[in-house]
Amino acid sequence: MNATEVTPGIVCFSVNIQDMLFEGIWPMPHGANMNSYLVKGDKVALIDGVCGWDGVPENLLGQLTELGVSVDDIDYVVINHMEPDHSGWLDAFKKLRKTFTIVTSAKAVPLLEAFYSLKDQPVKVVGDGDTLDLGQGHVLAFAEIPNVHWPETMATFDTKTGTLFPCDAFGSFGNVEGPAYDDQLSPEQIKSFEKEAVRYYSNIVAAFSQPTAKAIEKVEKLLGDQLKIIAPGHGIIWRRNPGKIISDYKRYASYQKGPAKAEVTVIWGSMYGNTAMAVPTVIRTLKESGLKVNEFRVPEDSLGDILTACWTSTGLVLAMPTYEYKMFPPMAALVDELGKKKLLNRHVFRLGSYGWSGGAQTELDEIMRRHKTGWRFVTPVEFKGRPTDADLELIEKRTRGLAARVHYAILKADHRR
Ligand SMILES: Cc1cc2nc3c(=O)[nH]c(=O)nc-3n(C[C@H](O)[C@H](O)[C@H](O)COP(=O)(O)O)c2cc1C
Ligand SMILES: [Fe+2]
Ligand SMILES: [Fe+2]
Repeated sequence: MNATEVTPGIVCFSVNIQDMLFEGIWPMPHGANMNSYLVKGDKVALIDGVCGWDGVPENLLGQLTELGVSVDDIDYVVINHMEPDHSGWLDAFKKLRKTFTIVTSAKAVPLLEAFYSLKDQPVKVVGDGDTLDLGQGHVLAFAEIPNVHWPETMATFDTKTGTLFPCDAFGSFGNVEGPAYDDQLSPEQIKSFEKEAVRYYSNIVAAFSQPTAKAIEKVEKLLGDQLKIIAPGHGIIWRRNPGKIISDYKRYASYQKGPAKAEVTVIWGSMYGNTAMAVPTVIRTLKESGLKVNEFRVPEDSLGDILTACWTSTGLVLAMPTYEYKMFPPMAALVDELGKKKLLNRHVFRLGSYGWSGGAQTELDEIMRRHKTGWRFVTPVEFKGRPTDADLELIEKRTRGLAARVHYAILKADHRR
């Protein structure tokens, strides 16, 4: 655990986590980082906790002692978000400190009881417009930001320093080695966190893009230029340019409905290599048309990587054979997941090999209807067995059609902006 000063009166405790699947599903190739914050007035508040906080009591006690703070000085524990990555440390903290007041939203109260049996714990319920005066000018103000990412989520704002604690919002994946603040990082390091922010957003927050967009609007309206620092629950802290992560997050949220970037993600699966034979034609044609291409194979490549690429792509190509009268199963699972994440309005081309009946399209249509994806398809190309030269020509032509649609969608959106 690392303790750093965010600004006078506020300390960040941060912990890196790795070699685990986030939410039990999502690989984190570059790890992740968890932040907890201490705000010190006459009273002391600890805002959110961290998972992977091995040996919480010893670690926390050690850090507090170094800061000249006793655990008994902690009066309030603010829970912005009940997901156990931030609240799971409560069990350990309870053993350290018998009397403290939890400050949280009304919707979090039954969850506190259900997850941590915190029945007799003093709880101060706060909502929009409520404040908590810690003394020495640190007045915490609260705003409900439901469904970023659970229904009970709120954000906390320290009015003295202009620091916003939005928990999951504005977070990114990636271990934080060394400097944890945007003003201490090189442009290259900021760029690599940007990639990790897209991974975090697309894997964890994506399905809640509309509530996230609303929350950003609400926070901007409430705080205006009072907002100086963004101190999220995951990733780096934005002190020099909080506007950057705000505009990045707005853009990520807007990608849900498309168009996104001038990119096409090509995902293919193949049992015996027949569908695979058509993939190079697709990729070459897309590249020739000036689009960035992300290529993945199912089931070999990770769902997290594929989702990250799809989120920033305006176009998709799905290449898969028919399997037992349906889509190749790992492709069906992937497309279903993209639908659940509400990846909407993409321009899509489907192709693939079949033996005697086909059937992949029926299942794809069913998934599209179920998730109301609004995906717009160019006419699919199915071929029997290996693709013939004529099949490949047609695939090239349809891929060009897809590329044109992608370029046009982006041009149209740029024109509107
Ligand atoms: C387990 C299995 C199930 C299949 N089910 C169907 C089917 O229901 N309908 C069909 O037209 N072809 C079916 N096929 C044939 C494949 O779609 C065909 O062999 C195709 O060329 C495979 O493409 P690939 O080499 O890209 O995997 C099946 C093949 C296998 C191995
Ligand atoms: Fe969360
Ligand atoms: Fe989180």
